[in-house]
Amino acid sequence: MLNSPGLYVHFPWCIKKCPYCDFNSHPLKDDVDQKRYLDSLLEDWQVQSTTIPALENADFSQDGFKTVFFGGGTPSLFKPELMAKLLRQLPIAVDAEVTMEANPGTQEYTDFEHYLSAGINRLSIGAQSFQNTQLAKLGRVHNSAETVAAVAKARAAGFTNINIDLMWGLPGQSLEDALFDLESAIALSPQHISWYQLTIEAKTEFAKRPPLLPIDGILAEIEIKGNELLAGQGYSRYEISAYAKDAAFCQHNINYWSFGDYVGLGAGAHGKVSEDEQILRTQKASQPRLYQGEPTKTSKQRVAEEQLPLEFMMNALRLIDGTSLTTFTEKTGLDWQVIATQWDGLVAQGLVRPDRCSTTELGLRYLDTVLEKFVS
Ligand SMILES: C[S@@+](CC[C@H](N)C(=O)[O-])C[C@H]1O[C@@H](n2cnc3c(N)ncnc32)[C@H](O)[C@@H]1O
Ligand code: SF4
Repeated sequence: MLNSPGLYVHFPWCIKKCPYCDFNSHPLKDDVDQKRYLDSLLEDWQVQSTTIPALENADFSQDGFKTVFFGGGTPSLFKPELMAKLLRQLPIAVDAEVTMEANPGTQEYTDFEHYLSAGINRLSIGAQSFQNTQLAKLGRVHNSAETVAAVAKARAAGFTNINIDLMWGLPGQSLEDALFDLESAIALSPQHISWYQLTIEAKTEFAKRPPLLPIDGILAEIEIKGNELLAGQGYSRYEISAYAKDAAFCQHNINYWSFGDYVGLGAGAHGKVSEDEQILRTQKASQPRLYQGEPTKTSKQRVAEEQLPLEFMMNALRLIDGTSLTTFTEKTGLDWQVIATQWDGLVAQGLVRPDRCSTTELGLRYLDTVLEKFVS
């Protein structure tokens, strides 16, 4: 199978839109016709797998996707039976990592045991904060107790690989508030914590009516003390925002950060596939209505050769240990010489390592400066 791609499946609906979110998510108006969406996903797969030459030539009977990610939106709004059917119809390796994002506020609709028997073996629970006043400011539909209950329920159902998503740098947040959120997450002993700094994205409610965010000094303190807390509790930071205990790294995301290939199914899903000497980006219609009207339509765009170094570095340098130097050529098809001068200059400034495609501690702090060197 080509380059062992990952599989991303997008579920574009949420109970309501959060004011900070720019993911392709649409508030639920009526009940979604779940079966129709599933049929669209299968049609989408049918056509992508037979028209993208790299996939067409793959021998799925021998092997299957090693990582699958059901993201959203809120995939946990979908019934486990439909997830089971989807997983049965797609080529998935027996030992694949299969993640689903779940919102605590939707757990009354969910049955974690059935998701597990459907073949989902990793849950990513969107906690965001453990303070109810903060959750209200973030427009979340759940409270802190519901997150605690969701994690307990997932574990009782048999999930042994659980991630908790948290955000920091939240409106009015103090250092103590941010550490309280981390401590509350750690107390639930998840295998993995994603700890994202809140960004104000264009066209969101927060961009239109910006909340008061912590000043830079507090943000810097939160980052330093938060990283210390996580490290002290055995969570090793392996990507800018990702921390794992006992090496429970997210293999699906590691594939993205290593500039690996992935297939994107569902409304607004993106994919990246390498074929011959080219790298193609694929994209599906974002509007669920349009996607379901024409699920087989995929726009494809070739990534220009001069953009490849920046695209590769934007991913690889997010990994704390980066990648091997040879991964650059393996994944982009370009000779290292194309970037050798820039790289050597950055080594001399102490921003990247000479032996790996990786930043130093200083380079990670000034990642934007490092990346600028690869802008064509
Ligand atoms: C695809 S999103 C949402 C998953 C799920 N629907 C939820 O909200 O719980 C994955 C994660 O991205 C993070 N995220 C979303 N918008 C963000 C933003 N503007 N800044 C930082 N992190 C963000 C949140 O932690 C969220 O859980
Ligand atoms: S629930 Fe998740 S995907 Fe949906 S709007 Fe909120 S952050 Fe975005």
